[in-house]
Amino acid sequence: MNDNSNVTLVDHPLIARNLTILRDKTTPPSIFREAMGRISMILAYHALMELPLQKIKVQTPITEADGYKLDSEIVVVPILRAGLSLVDSIITFIPEATVGHLGLYRDEETKKPIQYYYKMPSGMENAEVILVDPMLATGGSAIAALDILKEQGANKIRFMCLIAAPEGIEAVHEKYPKIPVITASIDEHLNENKFIVPGLGDAGDRYFGTT
Ligand code: PRP
Repeated sequence: MNDNSNVTLVDHPLIARNLTILRDKTTPPSIFREAMGRISMILAYHALMELPLQKIKVQTPITEADGYKLDSEIVVVPILRAGLSLVDSIITFIPEATVGHLGLYRDEETKKPIQYYYKMPSGMENAEVILVDPMLATGGSAIAALDILKEQGANKIRFMCLIAAPEGIEAVHEKYPKIPVITASIDEHLNENKFIVPGLGDAGDRYFGTT
């Protein structure tokens, strides 16, 4: 794992192997979903690092021991649609996490995000919020999501993605320098259509089998 300011690039043989499956344009949705499931577990492990804990006591069969519990509620917020692919990994580790949904799609002409859905749990102000979306391209969607979450009072947010473009990381950190970004890959650049190169195409379409 490489840490550079607020970017965590998760470097692991299992990431490299599964990312290759995801990048391969011949991978069908069924295999794509499985690979995404595996890779997202590793990402979640890293995204959930440094969660604040509260010290408690636990009674073992032998004696009392020190133990820990999470100090805050955990809210996972997928940016629809593709972000749904990363939700299960978080709630596998933290079953009591709640899930807020944020519908954004990138307009094909302007490349700007358009909001179409919003539903958050209460208590965002004190929660640890994990914003998830596999692709960070221009950063427009992530920034729009962060704007919305901040407006709702969320102040502890981290962003977990699969593939990031350098342009997207820069844009997010220009507006929100303190937001940790956890990613499996920092790709080369964006092409003229604002797609990540080499990337994997449209993650939502490939995961859900749409075109
Ligand atoms: C994709 C992707 C991100 C966004 C990234 O979503 O899942 O949400 O684009 O681009 P940006 O960083 O330039 O904003 P898309 O609009 O294709 O919607 P989908 O998830 O429904 O496929």
